[in-house]
Amino acid sequence: MKKIVIAIDGYSACGKSTTAKRVASILGYTYIDSGAMYRAVTLYFLRNHVSQTNKVEINKALDNIEITFQVNQKTEQTETYLNGLNVENEIREMAISNQVSQVSSIKEVRDAMVAQQRKLGKKKGVVMDGRDIGTVVFADAELKIFMNADIYVRSSRRQAEFLAKDQLVDLEDIIENLKQRDLMDTTREESPLIQAEDAIVVDTTFMTLDEQVEEVVNLALSKIIGHNEEEMVS
Ligand code: DC
Repeated sequence: MKKIVIAIDGYSACGKSTTAKRVASILGYTYIDSGAMYRAVTLYFLRNHVSQTNKVEINKALDNIEITFQVNQKTEQTETYLNGLNVENEIREMAISNQVSQVSSIKEVRDAMVAQQRKLGKKKGVVMDGRDIGTVVFADAELKIFMNADIYVRSSRRQAEFLAKDQLVDLEDIIENLKQRDLMDTTREESPLIQAEDAIVVDTTFMTLDEQVEEVVNLALSKIIGHNEEEMVS
């Protein structure tokens, strides 16, 4: 069966990653969390006190960063590695969330990450989520989803994720962080978050995770089957 690229973009915390992971597992596709890559770069920058304005320091740091993904055999979840070390937990902390939009707005950082993302998606059979996947990274993706949800719903879902990891984070702090990131992600100069013209909007405010997954899988199947029909005709 023909393999396609599925691009899932949208605001922070509206269920992109969880949906993308499940869709990839159902279709037997590779899941790539592009946000995790920007988070890993942010962690490296903070740990190594890399200036966010000095291009020489930024380029040197980028040369020293290797980001990889590995599936944890116990949990079957894909985890992020920075220079060979598992950083999956650290990159989800609020300290990183508070800086990541700033770091991901740096042109050099984006150029380096986009090049890696394109390599990872070259073989098709990929679900990638982020902010510029359908507009920049894979502008020719066969299926583009633009996800959104009410800010309060997004914030309480994110709070529940923290609670599941025994971290109590104030709801107001999460709302503020999401608002800030939405603003920075949509107004930055370098490939801002915008809905691709040919993207399908999925508003998850009143949807369960199962419903989100089902909707995206159905859309993917119609593209995959549509492709096979096109091939048979030509
Ligand atoms: O998906 P996430 O919330 O983990 O992403 C973290 C940040 O990374 C997000 O605030 C914006 C940035 N990002 C980006 O600029 N481009 C992407 N393709 C993915 C994420």
